[in-house]
Amino acid sequence: MKPVLIAPSLLSADFSILRDEIHALERAGADWLHLDVMDGHFVPNLTFGPPVVKALRRHTSLPFDCHLMIEPCDGFIPAFADAGADIITVHAEASKHLDRSLQLIRGAGCQAGVSLNPHTPENVLEYVMDRVDLILVMSVNPGFGGQEFIPAMVDKVARIRAMCGGRPIHIQVDGGVTPETAPALVTAGADVLVAGSAVFRGGEEAAYRANITALRDACQTAL
Ligand code: DX5
Ligand code: ZN
Repeated sequence: MKPVLIAPSLLSADFSILRDEIHALERAGADWLHLDVMDGHFVPNLTFGPPVVKALRRHTSLPFDCHLMIEPCDGFIPAFADAGADIITVHAEASKHLDRSLQLIRGAGCQAGVSLNPHTPENVLEYVMDRVDLILVMSVNPGFGGQEFIPAMVDKVARIRAMCGGRPIHIQVDGGVTPETAPALVTAGADVLVAGSAVFRGGEEAAYRANITALRDACQTAL
């Protein structure tokens, strides 16, 4: 089985020193950087947009995994691609024409992701399976870090893994991921774990390294 990828969410970073935080994460062993983009409309919070992604891009070679919590999303896809996103994930709930959104992402040269809120049934994925590189299962209601994991999402991951069949689609989980919640997710078929609070607690590079290692070790028990 392939190793599980750890994607720290910058939402829990110190925003006044983002470049330093990214360097610390890189040295601490992060696989991807998860960038949470919020619009104050689709979710009740605001973060940052393409200019910030672009500014950070030249400071690291880690893949940029952009989680767009914005509605509508299509108009911003080219700007995130130009800013240097590697993966662009849109919410199924935020796109009237999800098939088109996914085509726009791939057409812009990025990997295409689709995210589902906790209440959204996985059957919305049925007819876009050949258009996605990543499926993001939200295990909290999007908008904030530090929320409690919703246990029903473990079964949802397993159902989505079954729907993927042999396709090489990443299944990513975001929200309340810790060394305690990670093993069941990996057993169910997740292969990319996003973690904000569980990576940034401790506030310094040595802690980030220990936290990422703890997540990896927990995943290892499940493989
Ligand atoms: C929530 C974001 C998450 C968030 C996760 O809307 O999509 O990426 O940062 O934070 P934790 O790991 O603290 O639940
Ligand atoms: Zn996220």
